[in-house]
Amino acid sequence: MFSKKTIKDYNLKGKKVLLRADYNVPVENGKITDDYRIEQSLPTIEYLLKQKCAVVIISHLGRPEANKDQRFSLRPVAKRLGKLLDQEVKFVDDCIGEDTKQQVDQLKPGEVMLLENLRYYKQEKANDKEFAKQLASYGDVFVQDGFGVVHRAHASTDAVTKHLTSLAGLLLAKEVTTIEAVMDKPQRPMMAVVGGAKIADKIAVLNRFIKLADVLVVGGAMANTFLSAKGIKMGKSLVDKDDVPFARQIIEKAKAENKKRGFIFYIPQDGVVATKMDKTASTRIVDWDAHVIAEVESYPKKPAKSFSEIADNEMILDIGPFSGAFVAGVTQLSRTVVWNGAMGVTEVDSLQGPVGPFAHGTDTLVDALLGKFGNRPYTLVGGGDTVGYIENEGLVSSFDHVSSGGGASLDLMSGNKLPGVEALTDK
Ligand code: 3PG
Repeated sequence: MFSKKTIKDYNLKGKKVLLRADYNVPVENGKITDDYRIEQSLPTIEYLLKQKCAVVIISHLGRPEANKDQRFSLRPVAKRLGKLLDQEVKFVDDCIGEDTKQQVDQLKPGEVMLLENLRYYKQEKANDKEFAKQLASYGDVFVQDGFGVVHRAHASTDAVTKHLTSLAGLLLAKEVTTIEAVMDKPQRPMMAVVGGAKIADKIAVLNRFIKLADVLVVGGAMANTFLSAKGIKMGKSLVDKDDVPFARQIIEKAKAENKKRGFIFYIPQDGVVATKMDKTASTRIVDWDAHVIAEVESYPKKPAKSFSEIADNEMILDIGPFSGAFVAGVTQLSRTVVWNGAMGVTEVDSLQGPVGPFAHGTDTLVDALLGKFGNRPYTLVGGGDTVGYIENEGLVSSFDHVSSGGGASLDLMSGNKLPGVEALTDK
């Protein structure tokens, strides 16, 4: 049960609302390449406008180091938001100061304003009280709807709530209730599929899934570290050596859980390798478990080296077909799947055909999750890069829930408290 007051639990008629959104979206040369987070913020803004509120939006974008580095400006977001809302979004090129305050004061009911990047000031990340007080002076009430940032205790997620009644927006409430419901009482069997690059960022969630899921699959560059921990020759694959001890610990925990309750921990058994990460590269399938097949088929005990080993100049860029078949097969038996992180490199386009040379593993997984092979489990997609991929494929609305948060959804799945939610006003 969501224990915080939401915008539906409070009379907001005609109020000036300070709204925290997470508009940390990818921007290349001033162009937004993925506006999922902006789209997801619309229901709350539209609701506030119906209540005749004046809406002052604050957000961060990226991690600017130099003061007011324009690559991190929110100006393009104001434009895109205006298009999506079909009304003007006024943009103020600072989030603090007299001039900003004056412009905020002039905002009328039914109008929307976006202030410049909060992280142009180091006080934001420092959870600075004075900075938060200035932000709080812009509204009669505070609404937190930036789910993607509530795992941070910053001025705009924590300190600001000390000054105003602080309500959850519709996106925040939906994200928290949906993710918690899946993690508290999943329909079984439950499979978790975790990809991405670094284990260190995902240890907590891997540990939670070892206890909770029936099957846990690792893919992406993260799987390389597990393969390396198992002693497999990795060529020039991306392997985070510092993470190998974590990988060993996770393997041990998974083994213990397997003994206890039959839990399955699946590390890819084959991969797509190439000497370069490029659409012109020729690819090869390497099956490092090939000796198993050889025994079953009674081929020579030692399969050809070229088939079972990654060469020194090769790297793993995707899971292989056996691994893809395993994941698709388990999907047929699952009622719930939680997915976070691609199985391979999805950013490289194809020379011919719709699927990139290292995206077949992820593509097979997506097909399976969406019921192309029969069963269609309930699927919760964790945020981050995964969203970019399925957004590009035009598939976001086909899944049951696609989180707008990266680190925040991982933290919530791991069972951690989110400071930006904890700080809100209780029901
Ligand atoms: C995200 O993209 O995960 C959030 O916007 C938080 O950004 P941060 O990791 O820079 O705090």
